[in-house]
Amino acid sequence: MTLTNEGGFSTRFWDRAARKYAASPIKDQEAYEKTLARTIEHLGPNDTVLELGCGTGSTALLLAGKVKSYLATDFAKGMIDIADEKLAAGKAAGEAPQGLRFAVADGFSEEVELPGGAKYDAILAYNFLHLVENPEDLLARVRDLLKPGGLYISKTVCLKRKAWLFGPMIKVMQLFGKAPYVRMFSFDALETMTADAGFEIIETGTYPEPYSRFVVARKA
Ligand SMILES: C[S@@+](CC[C@H](N)C(=O)[O-])C[C@H]1O[C@@H](n2cnc3c(N)ncnc32)[C@H](O)[C@@H]1O
Repeated sequence: MTLTNEGGFSTRFWDRAARKYAASPIKDQEAYEKTLARTIEHLGPNDTVLELGCGTGSTALLLAGKVKSYLATDFAKGMIDIADEKLAAGKAAGEAPQGLRFAVADGFSEEVELPGGAKYDAILAYNFLHLVENPEDLLARVRDLLKPGGLYISKTVCLKRKAWLFGPMIKVMQLFGKAPYVRMFSFDALETMTADAGFEIIETGTYPEPYSRFVVARKA
């Protein structure tokens, strides 16, 4: 395992949060299903897919059956342990998707590189980029890992329009170790950063309103 932030505060934060995160229900089921449906529309049965920041693997377990291979990663071992438990339970019940594998990794880890320099058809990242301290570098790496024309499909929480409220609140929580790093994106800043990283944005949506920006971007 090669992590760029191994032992860092954010990794420990998410590690400790894993069991609670796994137990918390999806806040807006309709919006979640819309995100899944829009994603599935862009995937094909022969696709090789990478997911970054997969958490406890719920989305990976739902999407992996739609593609050929699906590597779902997270830098928090606590999250991946739970994802592996779910995968094992699915296998025991004969319901696990064939090509799904979980790994402790971040976007820069060697573990996410395909053998022989092969590239991904799609890279997925839900509720993720606003938590990354070097999003420009991460987007450059995502671009590098994709085939020409490959898709980066993401959902990012954009809190900029209420930064006056969320900014101080998150800072206080961070002082007490109760919040991880959070970047205050606006939709515009997120989409500009994505385009500047060498992507053509082909679809956007907000699921749920008003903060969760869904972006489908093609490697230009
Ligand atoms: C808000 S959770 C989202 C989990 C899942 N994608 C979902 O939508 O439910 C963010 C996840 O990203 C992971 N994460 C945060 N920063 C990361 C980074 N730099 N590299 C890899 N994973 C990261 C955390 O461990 C956590 O599991």
